[in-house]
Amino acid sequence: MAAINAVTDLTVEDGIAVLTIDSPPVNALSLAVREGIQSAVKQAVGNPEVQGIVLMCAGRTFIAGADITEFDKPPQPPSLYDVEDALEGSPKPVIAAIHGTALGGGLEVALCCHYRVAVPSARCGLPEVHLGLVPGAGGTQRLPRIVGPEKALEMITSGRHVDARTCLQLGLIDDLVGEGALRAGAIAFARKVLAEKMPLRKIRDVDDNVLPARGRPELFAEFREANARKFRGFLAPEYAIRCIEAAVNLPFEEGLAVERELFEELLQGPQSAAQRYIFFAERQVWKVPDLAPDTPTVPVTRVGIVGAGTMGGGIAMSFANAGTPVTVVETSEAALERGLGIVRRNYEFSVRRGRLSLEDVERRMALIQGTSSLQQLADCDLVIEAVFEDMQLKKEVFARLDDIAKQGAILATNTSGLNVDEIATAVRRPEAVIGLHFFSPAHVMRLIEVVRARRTSNTAVATALQLAKTLGKVPVVVGVCPGFVGNRMLFARQRQAEAMLLEGALPWDIDRVLYEFGLPMGPFAMADLAGLDIGWNRQTSTGATLRDALCEMGRLGQKTGAGWYDYDENRTPSPSPVTEQLVRDFMARHGATPRQLTDAEILERCLYPMINEGARILEEGIALRPSDIDVVWVNGYGWPAYRGGPMFYADSVGLATVVARLAQYAPKLGPEFKLSPLLERLAAAGQRFQDLK
Ligand code: 3HC
Ligand code: NAI
Repeated sequence: MAAINAVTDLTVEDGIAVLTIDSPPVNALSLAVREGIQSAVKQAVGNPEVQGIVLMCAGRTFIAGADITEFDKPPQPPSLYDVEDALEGSPKPVIAAIHGTALGGGLEVALCCHYRVAVPSARCGLPEVHLGLVPGAGGTQRLPRIVGPEKALEMITSGRHVDARTCLQLGLIDDLVGEGALRAGAIAFARKVLAEKMPLRKIRDVDDNVLPARGRPELFAEFREANARKFRGFLAPEYAIRCIEAAVNLPFEEGLAVERELFEELLQGPQSAAQRYIFFAERQVWKVPDLAPDTPTVPVTRVGIVGAGTMGGGIAMSFANAGTPVTVVETSEAALERGLGIVRRNYEFSVRRGRLSLEDVERRMALIQGTSSLQQLADCDLVIEAVFEDMQLKKEVFARLDDIAKQGAILATNTSGLNVDEIATAVRRPEAVIGLHFFSPAHVMRLIEVVRARRTSNTAVATALQLAKTLGKVPVVVGVCPGFVGNRMLFARQRQAEAMLLEGALPWDIDRVLYEFGLPMGPFAMADLAGLDIGWNRQTSTGATLRDALCEMGRLGQKTGAGWYDYDENRTPSPSPVTEQLVRDFMARHGATPRQLTDAEILERCLYPMINEGARILEEGIALRPSDIDVVWVNGYGWPAYRGGPMFYADSVGLATVVARLAQYAPKLGPEFKLSPLLERLAAAGQRFQDLK
């Protein structure tokens, strides 16, 4: 084996040169990798013994893309285009041999090889859209030339990884080789190419799949319209569509120029900076400083869930989706039937959407067992309590679980904000107690706040992280405080939103501003969805707040057809004259005169107190790092990834500005508001949250 450089080797076996990249962890196209490929191809082409070339990778995966850490640095030659030209222009056939994932620049490199083979477990995709980018090394021009523009639109704008068998059907790869026999299979394929004198196929020259779409702008218009909601606010999907339009309508080189220009614009812009930040933030959350990598974990083979309501049902689905059997406990057979009925209906909805087969549904439902006896949880490795948000009830459930659950089992609560330390006092093994705060709908939302109470063991935390990986979720380790990270910041926003109503803004004004900012909905639409009566009690209601008054009127939100908004039979909201009158009556009673609030004030008064609360959360050590808070908001509350989360957003606005505006609003922020000393200090020093180490 001859080393080309530290990350590239070249060996020649009976006329076939095997070029191997070995650059852990994911063989990204760093400068060294680009140099290595370029030199190796040159050497192989110049070697008269070599007739064909196989490009493959060592380690866990084929090239997973450009090296994202290089995007913030000045580009250094050879560029990715130079590497691709070397491969595509090789006078000897080049075969890409794919295992793991060929992603982004990795797939683009493979598309410049003359043929591609893969093992069945491999996956291919162009996920640049998740980084706020379009594929920038020819992917938007070559992919449609193989799979056609419709499929390319879907793949590039979703960033989806496509399995090898589907890739074979699509023509994206040319042959499947045996699992574990990639090298031999690829060499054999190279020999076949030579023996059969197969052409040096350059995808750039293949137009058959794009020509039928030429001059059919409606194809793109329809795609835009069908996905408008999904793409709202994001630049990258729209730019990807433009690139694919160029692939269809322009000669290859001109299309490539369009792609290059749009890629550069996105790379320099704020959306991609925010999305790249989130990419790394989501990888940071797994690193908990005082949790040794060899911390023992509990193997979780059976899970118990107490409560089959909104959350219990969704959590059960998450486990069943991952193939883990669950036992769900309810108070009665009727409650069980209702809860599991909703689970089934949710699955059937996915079948109607074409996302699941009927067999999948049966397989998953078979993993969910219902019972009304807590005793059935005796052999569970993990139990998650998801009963009503009531401390007394939760303590009772935990005390009983303490008697029933086997030694070593982890006892988790899904409380959305109660004190986990207090819940842990109900058991004799507080080290086993942890919060696993799933978000609604639990089978869809990726976030889990992993609440580490005072006595929670490292094993429980490490097991929670491992579990999140199994479930495909994003865990963020947080400490105990009312509402933890996400809901605590939400409360700060809610207080301001309701205060602004009593100054003259109406619920739909506030919701509109936050929706336009990019959030899926504003605080009042959200409250209507959740139900205004959460935590409200008719017996103790004093009618002192707008929410009390709405509840007393039976306006409990979407479920009663009216809350802050009025709803029609399709649950479409409209501004409510009843609410408006109620707000005005309240103002009159408080002697307040309505004033016009600008959109800017509404936005700042909603977001800046949240940011302040985030800073307090950091001061108190409730979150480990600012980027963890951002991961919570992007994955749990639909904060637009292209704005990077509230703390990143604060950095982009400038902390001095945030502090100055908070000072200006101070008289209106209410007695609970206290400026965070951390925020104040960073602002005074001209620093950002990202500078905190
Ligand atoms: N560049 C630099 N570092 C990368 C990277 C990349 N493209 N992809 C992954 N890494 C790093 C991660 O940051 C992580 O580092 P850490 O251990 O220090 O935290 C490490 O590699 C392992 O990553 P994961 O924890 O994500 O490992 P998994 O095994 O869970 O997943 C993966 C592997 C599926 C390859 C996943 O890492 C991934 O999706 N990577 C990004 C793929 C991507 O977006 N490619 C496109 C890049 S942009 C591009 O190619 C532009 C081109 O069109 C010009
Ligand atoms: P829910 O009211 O939909 O469901 C609670 C279920 O628990 C009911 O079906 C009830 O019959 C059952 N239950 C009550 N006592 C029980 C007992 N002793 N044994 C077995 N089952 C019992 O409530 P939801 O919304 O699912 O909330 C559950 C927990 O999750 C609460 O702590 C809540 O704060 C939290 N949570 C709720 C979220 C939401 O958006 N709904 C989001 C995140 C957390």
